[in-house]
Amino acid sequence: MAAIERTLVLLKPDAVARGLTGRLVQRFEDVGLKIVGIKMKQMDADLTRRHYFDLEERFGKGVYDATATYMQQGPVVALLLEGVEAVANVRRMIGPTFPGQAAPGTIRGDFAHMSKAYAEATGKAIANLVHASGSVDEAKYESELWFGADEQFDYPGLAERYVF
Ligand code: TYD
Repeated sequence: MAAIERTLVLLKPDAVARGLTGRLVQRFEDVGLKIVGIKMKQMDADLTRRHYFDLEERFGKGVYDATATYMQQGPVVALLLEGVEAVANVRRMIGPTFPGQAAPGTIRGDFAHMSKAYAEATGKAIANLVHASGSVDEAKYESELWFGADEQFDYPGLAERYVF
């Protein structure tokens, strides 16, 4: 049976600072994903390291440092979303990492356009608006990292009746 999953989304500092919070949350609600956790938080060095624990190993110190600086530039909005195969569906909605490669219709494709080449040439982080868990295992780890048991909710929504 296809699974009902929960996945973590972060609206990154650029999304919050640009005043896109409402529009981005709306996109997830529009497809019938249910908000089961939501909060605003300023990331510090420790949370950044725990959230992106394998980023330095995967892409090197330069990418990690640029990303860590960017993620701490301002507050983020964290969302825990529930729905049918929510992990893959949310990844599909946000598009690939580099906005210049993200198709129109995806969040990264609709609200940004930076390329990998530009980020590399300038040493800038990719301001790509959103983070979303990349796998079911990652979603479990990140949900627990960001939301305590008393911050994760179960409630009946109309999505269960009409969407899943
Ligand atoms: P990653 O987990 O590979 O991408 P995604 O966010 O699509 O799951 O990388 C995490 C973040 O690190 C990414 O959103 C932006 C940043 N990053 C860079 O700044 N430069 C890079 O070359 C890469 C691969 C990532």
